[in-house]
Amino acid sequence: MDYPIIAKPPLDQFAVRPNLSDYAGLREGFVYSDVINDLDGLPGGGLNIAHEAIDRHIARGRGEHIAWLWEGKDGSVERYTYADASRLSNQFANVLGALGVAKGDRVFCFMDRVPELYAAVFGTLKAGCVTGPLFSAFGPDAAGDRLADAGAKVLVTSPEQRAKVAAMKPRLPELRHIIIVDHGKEPTLEPGELAWNDLMKDAPDTYDIVHTGPEDPAVMHYTSGTTGKSKGAVHVHQAVLGHYATGKYVLDLHPDDIYWCTADPGWVTGTSYGMFAPHTNGVTSVIYEGGFSASKWYEVVQRHRVTVWYTAPTAIRLLMKAGDDLPKKFDLSSLRYTMSVGEPLNPEAVVWGEKAIGLPFHDNWWQTETGSIMIANYPIMPIKPGSMGRPMPGIEAGVIDDDGNPKPAGEEGDLALRPGWPSMFRTYWNNEPMYRSKFRNGWYITGDRGRTDADGYFWFVGRADDVINTAGHLVGPFEVESALIEHPAVAEAGVIGKPDPVAMEIVKAFVTLKDGFEPSDKLRGELMQFARKKLGPGVAPREIDFLASLPKTRSGKIMRRLLKARELGLPEGDTSTLED
Ligand code: PRX
Repeated sequence: MDYPIIAKPPLDQFAVRPNLSDYAGLREGFVYSDVINDLDGLPGGGLNIAHEAIDRHIARGRGEHIAWLWEGKDGSVERYTYADASRLSNQFANVLGALGVAKGDRVFCFMDRVPELYAAVFGTLKAGCVTGPLFSAFGPDAAGDRLADAGAKVLVTSPEQRAKVAAMKPRLPELRHIIIVDHGKEPTLEPGELAWNDLMKDAPDTYDIVHTGPEDPAVMHYTSGTTGKSKGAVHVHQAVLGHYATGKYVLDLHPDDIYWCTADPGWVTGTSYGMFAPHTNGVTSVIYEGGFSASKWYEVVQRHRVTVWYTAPTAIRLLMKAGDDLPKKFDLSSLRYTMSVGEPLNPEAVVWGEKAIGLPFHDNWWQTETGSIMIANYPIMPIKPGSMGRPMPGIEAGVIDDDGNPKPAGEEGDLALRPGWPSMFRTYWNNEPMYRSKFRNGWYITGDRGRTDADGYFWFVGRADDVINTAGHLVGPFEVESALIEHPAVAEAGVIGKPDPVAMEIVKAFVTLKDGFEPSDKLRGELMQFARKKLGPGVAPREIDFLASLPKTRSGKIMRRLLKARELGLPEGDTSTLED
């Protein structure tokens, strides 16, 4: 079906929204340095994300504006002003100093979305350390791999994560301090743990931010590839230019906005757009601790009068499933702009948004590695439902062939970006060769396939590799295969993404068994549990099939592509390298 372009009203109707008219005036050759004067820099020189996001608003007289509007799982609401956020992050920076944590050290968080997580991230940045929030649903293998690779020195976590932390601790020789947060309570401590409350109580709430320069590492997010364990994409303080500029021009944030990004800071969207873009633009950011529930989410919008909403296709598809009548039971009139990211957004979902909640979802595209939005349906741009939009001014995106030549409109190729934007990752932690392998003929190769159309809109085609996108979260098949083969019954494992109407893909595993083990439903259940415990529910396979053997290349590599083709009943393609 062809979806009509969703036209935008003429610009003058937006006259009261200055960002939009600013946007129209952006020069073709907009570069991020154009917004540098909107930011302040550190008082004595230098650049620090936390200063731009939090402290500078106080200097500009907006210290009493609400920064974090937090709603807990139990419905309780807490409000933190920019001044509160500054004090709390100052205290945490002082805590790190008192613990002997030095500039450049990695400080990771592993907990739910409680205010302390936000204070810890900004405090870590102020102390010149590298922050790494981990998804709280990760199992001990998934979290442990990341912490071990990062050589984290401090882990801020919660009592619920204790068993996982205990399981991974032997693998973390560099971990010096475990700080326990139990929001609203005094945690009972176990040997070797420190209490957040105790540490913060004695810490001064003023702090001189450690001098950081634009190229100093600030944030690390782990992301999955086809081979090997996940890799830590390293971002620097200069990334804040990208967060700020895209917050202003793509998210259309104004200081009076009540903005809600539904992503967890364990994924890059939850930091770049749950923390840095909103706060550099000085808005109130809603933090909802609970998980997805259609009626609860509408209630959050209604209760907090959310104006700008940034969410993801899986959530939108679940909202669609919950029906068109449900949103009518809530007052969603505060909303003026809605966006989506992380997976392909079905054109039906864009159009459904207009019908059911009165606004189309504006799709945009980026990656952990890009650090900020690269391609978007900006607020003033006509939306082509199903398209990711057009490159952010200052970004050169292309669909290219193997030699780096742009493909004509309509033809599929590698989606690539010209390196050099401020929020671009600077390396993969401990893995410079892998970082370098992502560049070809002067382009950064994203790993996605796409095409352009005659109007310069970009369309997503698929991944060029075996990485699985389940509910907007990338899962590396190798990580799942590695966990499965640790089970005594499993000889080999091959993992694919199986198409799913809601989550886009689910993780599906094929396993062969060692001699002496027979396939059974009981064993299947046991393997599922085993993987869930190690990796967490978002990463573990949702389906497992037993096979007598796995298709392999002559060099012994499991051919996931073939497993997938067979699963989907598709042609098997080139099997010339298949083992006899
Ligand atoms: O495959 C693309 C998909 O998600 C990948 C990036 O995932 P991650 O590094 O976890 O970053 C999350 C922050 C967005 C991309 O390589 N993806 C992201 N946005 C879209 C998308 N696929 C289709 N359409 C999108 N709008």
